[in-house]
Amino acid sequence: MSNPFEEAYARSINDPEGFWADAAEGITWTKKWDKVLDDSKAPFYRWFAGGELNTCYNCLDRHVEAGRGDQAALIYDSPVTGGTQKTYTYAELTDEVARVAGALKAEGVEKGDRVVIYMPMVPEAAIAMLACARLGAIHSVVFGGFASNELAVRIDDAKPKLVMSATCGIEVNRVLDYIPLLDKAIALAKHKPDACMILARPESEGTITNVKHVDWASASAGAAPAACVPVESSHPLYILYTSGTTGQPKGVVRDNGGHAVALKWSMKNIYDIDPGDVFWAASDVGWVVGHSYIVYAPLMQGATTVLYEGKPVGTPDAGAFWRVIADHKVKALFTAPTAFRAIKKEDPKGELLKNYDISTFKYLYLAGERTDPDTLKWAEDMLKVPVVDHWWQTETGWPIASNCMGLHVYPVKPGSPTKPVPGWNVQVLHEETHEPVPTGQIGAICVKLPMPPSSLLTLWNADQRYIDAYLEEYPGYYKTADAGMFDEDGYISIMARTDDIINVAGHRLSTGGMEEVLSSHPDVAECAVIGVEDQMKGQLPLGFLVLKSGVTKEADEVVAEIVALVRQQIGPVAAFKQATVVQRLPKTRSGKILRGTMQAIADNKEWKMPATIDDPAILDEITEALEGVGYGTARKD
Ligand code: COA
Ligand code: AMP
Repeated sequence: MSNPFEEAYARSINDPEGFWADAAEGITWTKKWDKVLDDSKAPFYRWFAGGELNTCYNCLDRHVEAGRGDQAALIYDSPVTGGTQKTYTYAELTDEVARVAGALKAEGVEKGDRVVIYMPMVPEAAIAMLACARLGAIHSVVFGGFASNELAVRIDDAKPKLVMSATCGIEVNRVLDYIPLLDKAIALAKHKPDACMILARPESEGTITNVKHVDWASASAGAAPAACVPVESSHPLYILYTSGTTGQPKGVVRDNGGHAVALKWSMKNIYDIDPGDVFWAASDVGWVVGHSYIVYAPLMQGATTVLYEGKPVGTPDAGAFWRVIADHKVKALFTAPTAFRAIKKEDPKGELLKNYDISTFKYLYLAGERTDPDTLKWAEDMLKVPVVDHWWQTETGWPIASNCMGLHVYPVKPGSPTKPVPGWNVQVLHEETHEPVPTGQIGAICVKLPMPPSSLLTLWNADQRYIDAYLEEYPGYYKTADAGMFDEDGYISIMARTDDIINVAGHRLSTGGMEEVLSSHPDVAECAVIGVEDQMKGQLPLGFLVLKSGVTKEADEVVAEIVALVRQQIGPVAAFKQATVVQRLPKTRSGKILRGTMQAIADNKEWKMPATIDDPAILDEITEALEGVGYGTARKD
């Protein structure tokens, strides 16, 4: 007969309500649901309709009540602050979160209010998220690598009552003062929060001038601990903005109930993590991985989560990950392949690994971008544990495809994240006929509706955009915007995005958003941004600029201004450092820029002359320009 994975998968597809009702027993509800799946307002599906719960209670209080109060809940490890380490037990974390929630309440934050969290990787970032969840307030974490302008866009969309932040973030070699960034964002935004609650870090000081400044430490020390507020299952837990095809990011809305059920289920069944195990997601709370697997899922499972303020290399060296695993007895690490490429580059033979005892380490999970076979093999050879490439998106909140370590371990096929996870009815569809394509053929990867719990409810204040962006093109399906294929064993491969999203060091970025910044420069008439292959970061953005006639500046000068502008408008995370000036852009006869062809030339891949190209000669100019900046046949790697 079949294995536990196959049984779980079949049941999740044939009897989703029964499957997820069983999984929901893992969560404490203050009111049991009336209906497991409410499809009365499809395509706006709701899981556990009528049910009520509190996510923070499920992450913290209930473990204390069950006698786990003295167990480590969160370990903070910070090489960038001289090696700070701090452990919070479940009891301590519950108290701290309750007091911070009390401080939020004292500032008038209530159920349904939005709170923007712009924080470095300190325990208070997780505490802030959990404090919002405790009150039923909706948090929206903004990654610290985004500039004021991006923060302002999110403030205007989410309209927060309060912003929670710190005086600074710390990168490898610099302290980033947040106060000027925040003041500028608030000045730029039309919506003004009532106050900013600021964690004073010893590395930097400052006071918010544009709105009320609330000092985190004194406000929470003086606050009465707040109780957990039960909320409806479909009440939003958070909004997380992610790149769309324009500069206006998409506010992915996650519910409380479905999210709790799916994440709790994933910890044992996908990640093989039990209560008391130490789980480390080396990501950032600004990304979905950080939300799900630094904060919510490990705590729901009663495991210990590691919150790491550092990098895989440079803090201080390429042995940092092994040091953290050894120091905290980590069972499983979750990171992006780019982190392993960075380690491999600095320490190809894994010499630094010999300095550490990593015998507790059982699994490496990689996501955010495809795990290239070289990196997979290197990690397997070094660590001698299963290396699991798994695929997911901000929109889903948990993996769509993975080798499920808690159910059945399949042989690994390099380049594939194995099979769709229970709950996900994944189909590869033909772009024109919308019918499933035969095995082995590439098509649009779609998920049959309804999607399993934890999938996005909608986009914040943008139901129609949700439908247009994800549901319209393939009726009855969610479009992942990834292209790929199934093989004869049911393994899926994720090949490429079908939109203009690129993946830089595991960070999802919109080339359309960058093009908007480039076109705002007064000397630029037209532009295009493509993602070019990069050995370390997977992809890097590269800009093409057509200057307005009459511009007398040197090309280098305009490029330098453009690079500075993207850093200022989007932030350092865009990693936009290269652009080239061209006379014209290659287009189809209907005026569409041929970005795919430019990308193939840049990556020195085979390409065909597009049948609809307007003027083929332009591609010669582009080829020359690309060679001038080290791409195309001039690539060194
Ligand atoms: N706040 C402010 N700036 C930040 C930041 C933050 N939280 N995070 C990154 N940046 C800055 C970096 O300092 C860098 O600035 P620079 O242009 O002055 O050098 C820029 O944004 C680009 O960052 P990044 O692309 O991350 O490059 P890096 O060289 O700093 O680090 C890696 C490269 C591979 C080590 C790093 O990207 C990494 O660890 N990635 C894997 C883990 C991960 O976060 N995955 C995300 C989802 S799972
Ligand atoms: P994000 O929303 O930032 O998590 O980015 C999601 C996108 O990253 C997906 O749509 C994919 O394009 C890509 N991605 C994430 N994980 C993988 C993976 N394991 N293999 C291939 N691509 C991935």
